[in-house]
Amino acid sequence: MAGLLTAEHTALQGDIGATAPHTARRVEEVGYAALPGVVSARWLDSARSLATTVNRPDAQEVLLEDMTAGDGEAIDALLADPELAGFLESVATRLHPRSDPDDRHVDVSLRIINGPDEVEQPLWFHYDATVVTVVFPIEIPATGGELVLHANRRPFRRLVLSNIVEKMVMQSNAYRRRFHAGEPTAVSLVPGNAYVFSGYRSYHATLPCPVGARRITLMVHYKDAHGGSKMLRGAKSLYHRVADA
Ligand SMILES: [Fe+2]
Repeated sequence: MAGLLTAEHTALQGDIGATAPHTARRVEEVGYAALPGVVSARWLDSARSLATTVNRPDAQEVLLEDMTAGDGEAIDALLADPELAGFLESVATRLHPRSDPDDRHVDVSLRIINGPDEVEQPLWFHYDATVVTVVFPIEIPATGGELVLHANRRPFRRLVLSNIVEKMVMQSNAYRRRFHAGEPTAVSLVPGNAYVFSGYRSYHATLPCPVGARRITLMVHYKDAHGGSKMLRGAKSLYHRVADA
């Protein structure tokens, strides 16, 4: 729906930049930080409207990755927000001081889940490639759809090879079925808030959604923890070729 946001309207409200030190500390100590009421109601409406437009209700999941300003005014407003870039950089460098200072790419994804998986699968636990992950809940079912995480379960690896091998093992369905390492933290998501954690360090997944429910989240992934490694790019393409086979 056009016209929800005006040119001067920002996605974020309040001084989110000033919360960066506290946010990074919470991520280190508790595993995640909840930032209450940081997005405006109009931005939320705009993001929900975009999700409704691109959704395919017959598909269990719709995932749009690496979105740009041209993908809709909600994405444009978020990427153009003067607070966001500084906040992400400040949190990322506090969490991982060795990370690449030149990597400022803000990767925005929109994920829509329409009800439960048709086939019962183990929870899709995984690690992200990036230092910081921010989840903006747009629409969340009354029950289900929580973010679950084994927070800060691994350090930032110095060697990219360790990261590749670890991800290949831990992101296999066989490992996910056998994995028991205590109760993960379940985070109930509330639209209007933002949730920050280290996707690289935290083994995380989403709890299933009930029949007929819709879950919409917008995710920001920031700063590749192994900035620009050729070996990692090669491993990713191999992994995808194997996964697609
Ligand atoms: Fe993730």
